[in-house]
This record gives sequence, C-alpha cells and structure tokens, in this order.
Amino acid sequence: MKRKLFVTTALPYANGSFHIGHIMEYIQADVWVRFQRMQGNEVHFVCADDAHGAPIMLKAEAEGVTPQQLVRRIGAERKQYLDGFHIGFDNWHSTDSPENTELSQDIYRKLRAAGLTYTKPVEQFYDPVKGMFLADRYIKGECPKCGAKDQYGDACEVCSSVYSPTDLKNPYSTLSGAAPELKTSEHYFFKLSDPKCVAFLREWTGNDRLQSQVANKAKEWLEGKGDRELGDWDISRDAPYFGIPIPDAPGKYFYVWLDAPIGYLASFKNYCAKKGIDFEGFLADPQTEQVHFIGKDIIYFHTLFWPAMLKFAGYKIPNNVYVHGFITVSGAKMSKSRGTGISPLRYLEIGMNPEWLRYYIAAKLNANVEDLDFNPDDFVARVNSDLIGKYINIASRCAGFLSKRFSGTIRIGGQNAIIGKLQASAAEIARIYESRDFGRALREIMALADEVNAHVDRAKPWELAKQPGEEDRLHTVCSEAIQMFRLLTLYLKPTLPRLAAEVENFLGIAPLSWSDAGSLLPDGHRINDYKHLMARVDEKQLDALFDIPPVEPAKAQKKTAETAKIGSQSGSSSHRPSPQPSPPGGGEGAASASGATMISIDEFAKVDLRVAKIVKAEHVDGADKLLKLTLDIGSEQRTVFAGIKSAYDPATLEGRLTIMVANLAPRKMKFGLSQGMVLAASGDQKGASGEAPGIFLLAPDSGALPGMKVK
Ligand code: MSP
Ligand code: ZN
Repeated sequence: MKRKLFVTTALPYANGSFHIGHIMEYIQADVWVRFQRMQGNEVHFVCADDAHGAPIMLKAEAEGVTPQQLVRRIGAERKQYLDGFHIGFDNWHSTDSPENTELSQDIYRKLRAAGLTYTKPVEQFYDPVKGMFLADRYIKGECPKCGAKDQYGDACEVCSSVYSPTDLKNPYSTLSGAAPELKTSEHYFFKLSDPKCVAFLREWTGNDRLQSQVANKAKEWLEGKGDRELGDWDISRDAPYFGIPIPDAPGKYFYVWLDAPIGYLASFKNYCAKKGIDFEGFLADPQTEQVHFIGKDIIYFHTLFWPAMLKFAGYKIPNNVYVHGFITVSGAKMSKSRGTGISPLRYLEIGMNPEWLRYYIAAKLNANVEDLDFNPDDFVARVNSDLIGKYINIASRCAGFLSKRFSGTIRIGGQNAIIGKLQASAAEIARIYESRDFGRALREIMALADEVNAHVDRAKPWELAKQPGEEDRLHTVCSEAIQMFRLLTLYLKPTLPRLAAEVENFLGIAPLSWSDAGSLLPDGHRINDYKHLMARVDEKQLDALFDIPPVEPAKAQKKTAETAKIGSQSGSSSHRPSPQPSPPGGGEGAASASGATMISIDEFAKVDLRVAKIVKAEHVDGADKLLKLTLDIGSEQRTVFAGIKSAYDPATLEGRLTIMVANLAPRKMKFGLSQGMVLAASGDQKGASGEAPGIFLLAPDSGALPGMKVK
C-alpha cells in the first residue's frame, strides 16, 4: 500500500541565516523523506520562512528596510544551503503570504465560531517613545534581588534569580531607553483550557503518535503538573506589529506563533497550486499522514496549540510530531556569539563534502530527544574509517580489475552467501530507517560492509590477478564485490543521495529504490570506469572550519526567553532554560547534563588540566557571586572569573594552588574575558562538618608546581 505523506520541518525565523542546528533538522527529515520515496510512497516535503513578529520588524527597522524586504533577502539565501546539503524540499514559501493570511484568518474564524476564543484586558509594559507594547526581552532594569544593573525582565544573569519584568527596579525599554509605562489593552485568547480541548489533547497525546518522552511532557502540561501551567493562549498583539490582521479587530494582529505553524499548510497549498494537486482533497484523505519534524524547544506549540487549533477549526490533525535534540559543537551549546558554532556556509565554501556531514549527523541520530555533539575528531574518524575505509574501499579495490580485464562486464558465479545476507537485510534496515534510528541503520550497514571487506580480503583479487588461470575466479570475485557494493549503496542512499547517484551512474543503472534489493546486476551487465567517488576528510579543513573569530559577547537565550512568555500568563515556561548557577569560572556547563555518559580516555585527555597558583583574588564590582582570579600556570598568567564568592574570602586564596581547565574556550563575560575555569566540588549534601552545602576548591598535594599537567 502506497502511503501518502505530508512532511514538514520547523519554519526558521527569517531574521537570520541558517545555522548548523537548522541544517541538522533538515538532514534528519530529508533522510526520512528520501527513505519514504525509495519505498515508493508519495511524499510532499515543504518548509517556509517564519516571517512575522516583533524581532523581525525591529531588525528591519534598524536596517532601514521594510520587514518584507528583510524577509525576502533572508529567503533568497536559503537555496544555496539547501542545495548545498542536498535537502530536497519540494517547496519553500513564507508565512508572510496570501495563502497564510487566508488560512490563518479562516482557522481563527472557525475557532471563534466554535466558542474557543474570547478577549480580556491585559496590562503590559508600553514604550511611550516607540509607541509600542514591549515583550519581556525588550525590558531591562535592576535585579530586584541583588541590584545588578541591565538585567533582562525574566532572570538575573548575575544572581540567577527569576522574576517578572514588573519586578525590575528602574525598568527601561531597550528600544528607546524610555521608562516603560503599564498600559492596558484588549487581547484575544484561544481557550486551550476548555474541557473539550483538554479532552481532545489527552486523547491525541496518548495515541502512540509521539515519542514517549514527548508524550509524557505533553501529559504533564495537560495535567497541570508540568513546568508550565495550561493557561489560555494570548494570540493577539497590538499594532505596530508585523503580522496578519485579526478579522474584525482593527489594530490587532495574530501573535507570530499562531500563524507560524499554519505556514506549513500555506506552503503546501502554494505547492499544490503550482503542481495541480488538490490541496483540500489530499488533506481530507484519511490515508494522508501529516508529519512534523521539530526541535525540543518548540514541543509545547506543536503538541498542544497546534493540534487543538486544527482540530477545532475542522482541519486535518497531525499524525506525528517527531522531536529531535539540539546539536552541540565540541560539547558546547551552539552559539554564534561564542564562535563555537560551525557555519554551514563556511563548511561548503571551504569545499568540505556535504555528504560527510549528512553521514556524520545521521550516524549520531536516534529516535529519541537526545542532544547530539559535533566532535571534530570523531567526525574525521567516522567519515574516514567508516564511509571511505569500509564502503568506498570495496569499489575502489575491485572495480579496476573489471574494467581493465573484463571490459566492465559483470559475471554471475554461483550462490554467494554474503550477497544473500545483504539482500535479506533490506526489510530490517527499512524498519530501522522508518523508526528514524539512523545511527543504528548505519551501524548495521557498516557491519555488512565489514563482512564484504573480509570476503574480499580472503579472496585476494590482487593476487588472483597475478596468477594465470584464475581469470574466471577474479572476474567472479570482483563482480560479486560490485553486487555487494550496489546493495550497500541502496541502503545508504537516503543518507548519501548524491553519492548514490554517482554510483548509479558508475554502475550504469536506473535510480535505486528499495525494492531493487531483491534483484542483482544481470550476467553480462556493463559498468562504467571507476572514478574515485569520495575523498577522505583532511584535518586541515576542520581547522579552517573552526577558525572563526569570536563575535560579540553572548546575549544567550533571548529567543527562548521570548517564546517562554507565550501560553502561560504566569510566565512560567518550559522553554526558558531554568537559569543555572554558572559553574566556577563562568563556563556554560552545557552539554554534560547527562552526568552518566561514559567517555573514552582520549576524550578525557582533551581537557588540559593544570596546576595553577592564585596570585591575585579580587572582588568584582556589581557581581555578587564572582571573584576575579589571576592564575599563574607557569608559562603565563590567566584571568578567570569564578563563582566562588559565597565560599571564599579573596584574601585567603592568594598564594594557594588549585587546578584549572587551561584549554577552555575563552568566554566574554560582563566583567571581562574569562580564560579558563577553576575546579571546585559542590553538591546538595551538607559538608563534612555539617554546614550548609558549599563550594570546595580543589588543591593538589604539596610539592606540585604551577603549570604541571594533571592527568
Ligand atoms: N520559527 C520557529 C518555528 C516555527 S514552526 C511553526 C523557530 N525557529 S528557529 O529558527 O528558532 O528554529 C527552527 C528549528 O531549528 C526548530 O525546530 C529548532 O528546534 C531547531 N533548532 C534550533 N537550534 C538548534 C540546535 N542547536 N540543534 C538542533 N536544532 C535546533 O523556532
Ligand atoms: Zn540579581
């Protein structure tokens, strides 16, 4: 039975270029879509720019262009990335489009008719100079707890306390500097708390359509036990706003998150019109499956608002929402601002093969909501040893003999057990791809490649080639290796579409689909001359990839802070990463949330731990947790900001030895550059003498000297 699929990825905000996180999401979805197509299923795969909202409006204003111009400019950049990484969307559209306006207004009208909308006055900060209401991200002031200046309206970066913008002392608008005024305005709400919505969502989220972690999260929210409450959803924003006008509500626009997911439908509708597909008919077909790929930060919107909106407006409801984790780079949360992210465009520009990245990302993906780390050494190892060393190697060892000695013809010998095994694996590998456990699929395929290589090693074609009378044997061995190579190519094709096309060309065959696993190249089939299919990664390319100058200091998490606001009037949220106390030294403490992960000795060896002498320890003006340490590590002195003020008097630290991480990427902090991190123990337990949980700086045994390596 041919399946009918409508597949999307999240719509990227149109105020910036793609980063590696976007590309990772597209690769995940693209591999799955290509796999579905190889199964003979009908798949429509679309995306669009998420164009609306205040940030885009303000960015355009700052650049002196209209929001439409900004969105068009960003939209025009997309193609080079998508083509570059072989992402096969059928359509790329924009939420700032006639289709989206029409669909959003239609959905709103139907929700209104169903009694699921209402209005109520909301009091909010207003910038009298800009003449607009201010989202939290545009308000700063003094922390109500510690008095630190220039703190955002949700949490203090210095003392980590959490509060709401109205708690700030001396608040000011970051847009104009003016003191904001509290002002009331009528807002439109979607009644998510309505019993029929809740009942529907209980059923929808309980239906095996979500990964269990995602379903659990959604259920917690529904039961009101989660990290945010199930409030009604504020779907309106006041002019000036770049968005879609709310029908019968002059001066009111849909909040961007209302029209954004509707953009999935708008892009599909736009595509259907171009292709002559019946949009309504396709979606009305009960066979049609609607599948969304998204990242873990936008689960709330996609598992609660989105299905409820569709359901009660009488539209098709999503079949699946597949959630992935975040990509980190060398264990650090990806952030352009700290220069640790890798630029996808630079990757392409320096001539790195896009399929290396596809392979690497696919190899590290599974079906769970787990973060995935791009590690340069691991990248080189996997691509060079697996992809080149195992797979490409088969063709490069055997194809030459066929063309030179047998004019490229294939010879069928007797039964071959390995070919049989490869063919028999088709169903299992398909099952694994279907389940999105791509890492496992690639492991299975590479295990098969190992068997093929072992077989070639045993048969030794290079020796047969030198022995008179072994012509037939040589011909058969090389032909069989090529048959095996063809089957491995078929299984790798969703991940490596370009390479597979080159192999199809080399083998002189039509594009492979999954059912071709049941057949082989026929006796006498002629292949073309082998040209090298894929180069190895050169480590120098990775150096070039990471050689990005650090840019402006991190204003981390502002986007998440904005999304945090929606949906809960209380301001509690799952999106906002709960402010973590910064570890000593102010490092980000990013990736190692899973304390139990095992690492290899090589990974550990990457951490350059040194004995450091604290030559100076000083208070930092305006910081109530940090001390500024000057550390001597023999060869040089380093400045490190360490969050140990609560436990140590600076005077007692001077002259002490401690341990520091000497190769931590420098981090620009409000008070200066932190060039490393000192190590300290801390925990929830009380200290040995029963005092409150504290911070305990590490120290080496006496005799150690500054600069000594700790290993
Ligand atoms: N515009 C919204 C989505 C609207 S969908 C109707 C948005 N845009 S975004 O540009 O911030 O993110 C787009 C997608 O990229 C989201 O699925 C998000 O989870 C994903 N990622 C953003 N950073 C990421 C990583 N570091 N790693 C993997 N995916 C990440 O949210
Ligand atoms: Zn504070």
